[in-house]
Amino acid sequence: MKPTPPEPMVFRPANVDELVGQPARVAEALLRKAKRLRENSSSNLRVLLYGPPGVGKTTIAELVARELTCGQSLCVEEANGKMVSAEVVRLWMASLAHAGNLFGDWSVVLVNEVDRASRDAQDLLLSYLDKMPAGRAFLATSNLDLSALTDRFQSRFQAIRLDAPSTDEIAAFLRARWRIPADVAARIAVGSGGNVRAALLDLQTFLDAADAAPKPTKNHNRNGERRHARRS
Ligand SMILES: Nc1ncnc2c1ncn2[C@@H]1O[C@H](COP(=O)(O)OP(=O)(O)O)[C@@H](O)[C@H]1O
Ligand SMILES: [Mg+2]
Repeated sequence: MKPTPPEPMVFRPANVDELVGQPARVAEALLRKAKRLRENSSSNLRVLLYGPPGVGKTTIAELVARELTCGQSLCVEEANGKMVSAEVVRLWMASLAHAGNLFGDWSVVLVNEVDRASRDAQDLLLSYLDKMPAGRAFLATSNLDLSALTDRFQSRFQAIRLDAPSTDEIAAFLRARWRIPADVAARIAVGSGGNVRAALLDLQTFLDAADAAPKPTKNHNRNGERRHARRS
């Protein structure tokens, strides 16, 4: 029997095969690189994933972190840029003195929406990135275009742009997993404007509404009206 797909709202891609569009291809290449680095941690990794919201930036950063640390979540520190103050970056810098960590070879810092970090924090991040030894990864995401970040900041990273999956790609993805009618999938995909998270939310609403609707039964017609039993 086919397993029931998760509710769209709680769906979290667990691997590359569960991603759609160009982000899936970026993830594949990055994960290959992460695997190589894990087997030979003679360098560090600094990646900035940027692009529109809801296309998989955080998901991919988390998959890369998991690959590098063999799933040891204690080796991954995840933060939102808004919470990254200069003090936080100072603590990260202090921790660079210790090679590796108690749990594995790689330590990863993952900052979502790095552009929201304070100016002071961003300035300090520059030296943090310069001092990062082998076996450390700094993975960042941003919903903004690269031009919103200073040139100095950009040049510290391998900056990778994620593009929104096409309408057709999103529609096919929704249909393949949740077996919804083609016209519904197409409508949701167009409405999402390439934001997969938004498409999943709309799909959840559609499925909830379909669940709540009265089911046609033998004694009901398609409009839910009770049929009068014919007496002969
Ligand atoms: N390319 C994608 N393929 C499949 N699901 C996706 C994709 N992008 C986003 N999602 C869905 O949207 C959710 C949020 O994605 P996220 O990685 O946080 O996007 P971003 O960081 O770009 O805003 C994911 O948990 C997943 O359910
Ligand atoms: Mg994100």
